[in-house]
Amino acid sequence: MPALVLLGAQWGDEGKGKATDLLGGSVDYVVRYQGGNNAGHTVVVGDQKYALHLLPSGILSPECTPVIGNGVVVDPSVLLSELSGLNERGVDTSKLLISGNAHIITPYNVTVDKVTERFLGKRKIGTTGRGIGPTYADKINRVGIRVQDLYDESILQQKVEAALDVKNQLLTKLYNRRAITADQVVEELLGYAEQIKPYVADTVLVLNQALEEDKVVLFEGGQGTLLDIDHGTYPFVTSSNPTAGGACTGSGVGPTKISRVIGILKAYTTRVGAGPFPTELFDEDGEALRRIGGERGVTTGRDRRCGWFDAVIARYATRVNGLTDFFLTKLDVLTGWEEIPVCVAYEIDGKRVEELPYSQTDFHHAKPIYETLPGWSEDITKAKSFSDLPKNAQNYVKALEEMSGAPISAIGVGPGRDETIEINSFL
Ligand code: IMP
Repeated sequence: MPALVLLGAQWGDEGKGKATDLLGGSVDYVVRYQGGNNAGHTVVVGDQKYALHLLPSGILSPECTPVIGNGVVVDPSVLLSELSGLNERGVDTSKLLISGNAHIITPYNVTVDKVTERFLGKRKIGTTGRGIGPTYADKINRVGIRVQDLYDESILQQKVEAALDVKNQLLTKLYNRRAITADQVVEELLGYAEQIKPYVADTVLVLNQALEEDKVVLFEGGQGTLLDIDHGTYPFVTSSNPTAGGACTGSGVGPTKISRVIGILKAYTTRVGAGPFPTELFDEDGEALRRIGGERGVTTGRDRRCGWFDAVIARYATRVNGLTDFFLTKLDVLTGWEEIPVCVAYEIDGKRVEELPYSQTDFHHAKPIYETLPGWSEDITKAKSFSDLPKNAQNYVKALEEMSGAPISAIGVGPGRDETIEINSFL
């Protein structure tokens, strides 16, 4: 029962789509277990580039069944437009399965996300504005709307009315916005119901049966470890659990079934939105990483904040996820630097700290302690094996591996599907 979890080891945008896609051909199911259309995977197949926000990247491999698990929040209009966009480009999407227990991002959740951020002013989180947080808040408050509710009109009406009772008070009295009528929302949601119906399934049963039949199931995390609601840099986080445990709760597959947990690790660090980021660069090196790495959000179009590699974070990701391997991405972006600084520890209030501090205040005060590694200038995008890499690039990878606490089993040396060095097979 090979069940693998693939997740971001930093603040997201580590290049997970490429990693998932590398396994595509040998994987039977690719499952998203949390998040929604706040994610952004870019997958390059041949000369075609696909930007996916909600759909699992397995949708591009014809032999693979893509699954949206119960832990995901689904915006039906985004789902349908992403599907039709792929269909227009000749991609067959008919195998997609969506959990009936997944929660729906309603139009009022999107409104609440936007007005809350505006209301927070300079204390805002910098969310993607896609309604993610408010939808998870409704789920936890037990006033959420699930995919299955689309198929019982009277239940849907009652649930939308219940959710709007409180929200309209907030919208009109606090945020000075117009009230939203339940009938309008119900009508819009029912308009999506029939188109979504063929995909709705008991995904818990499907996935567990698949594992019993020895099928390969890949769980694909959105965002990243440091954006996890429990283990990330709260409150500057997303509202779900991208960490490995989330794969279980977000899919209904037990932890004893998971055989491998792979952390995707960028050879430097990026972050979007607000929140602490010890190795962030505000100089021309940061600008160069952004330019060469194409560090602009797939979902939001916002420039990503860029900085050097942070080994403290990588070690933390190894611990909270129980990582068995790393997939190091975008090593080619670092080509051309004479020397590359790597953060090995923090200085917090005059003391050297080796591990991520549990206190938010301490983390905000953390200053990076760097070790500098020699760089390389040779083009590495054609490298097929570890030994093809220049000595200094090999040493950079080895140093990161040693500091991060898990073996680096694959290295991305370019954006294309075949621009990857495999060291240990993931399967
Ligand atoms: P939300 O997920 O839209 O609520 O946004 C919360 C925080 O997570 C913000 O800082 C976002 O920029 C960040 N975020 C959400 N999705 C992603 C992602 O896929 N990559 C990187 N950052 C993300």
